[in-house]
Amino acid sequence: MVLAGGIPPTGSVEAIKGGENPAKVIYFAPTLALAKKLLRSGADALVIEGMEAGGHIGPVSTSVLAQEMLPELSENHLIFVAGGMGHGNAIAGYLEMSPASVQLGTRFACAAESIAHENFKKAFFRANARDAIASVQVDPRLPVIPVRALKNNGTEEFTRKQIEVTGVLDREEIAMEEAQLQIEQYWAGALRRAVIDGDVENGRLMAGQSVGMLKAEEPVADIMQKLMVQSEEALTRR
Ligand SMILES: Cc1cc2nc3c(=O)[nH]c(=O)nc-3n(C[C@H](O)[C@H](O)[C@H](O)COP(=O)(O)O)c2cc1C
Repeated sequence: MVLAGGIPPTGSVEAIKGGENPAKVIYFAPTLALAKKLLRSGADALVIEGMEAGGHIGPVSTSVLAQEMLPELSENHLIFVAGGMGHGNAIAGYLEMSPASVQLGTRFACAAESIAHENFKKAFFRANARDAIASVQVDPRLPVIPVRALKNNGTEEFTRKQIEVTGVLDREEIAMEEAQLQIEQYWAGALRRAVIDGDVENGRLMAGQSVGMLKAEEPVADIMQKLMVQSEEALTRR
């Protein structure tokens, strides 16, 4: 079971690892201090994910996180490095730094086996790295959870919505909690709208910066084969 978003509530790790169907627990660890804490509290493996990744992200790049965290953690623990890998060359680089494993999302989002809508896949194939942008926060009073997604009408509307709510707040026409709730709920159901319904204008097309390297639909086996060959070639060259 994979957990993200900081320290899990008390009792949740015990519930996952105990009981009739015990599972291994993998955490997303945003900092070295938190990674150490999570390992002490029973994590079986960690994911360290940089800001190049698609979906919910932290502020630091994969390469910096890997340099900072792998030497401290990877000797005795299974660590997955994630974010920004679209070619086996990059995978080889992280494997060379430590006995780490890697996790890729964007590269597989449009695989032949992916149930994503045709419109969603087409938008990915059209996109360049710079189209996959992190969500913008307009006002420090209105927290925005950072997500990397393709820019579209929805991302622009979200900025406009924040400006509108900021104005309403300034005029004291709304309570802070209500304003924050409006921002928090803005994207509810938006990933489903993009992936399943194919609404690529208003849905949320979560994508990492490696999206620019995706050009066509391929079966997972072919993607894996390519990545393996590229990684092996890179490691051999080195
Ligand atoms: C469309 C999409 C949806 C994602 N949804 C989730 C999710 O629900 N939970 C999660 O932990 N990570 C999610 N991720 C992040 C991936 O698990 C993975 O860590 C990330 O994609 C790796 O970086 P990359 O996109 O650069 O390959 C998602 C990524 C994408 C592209």
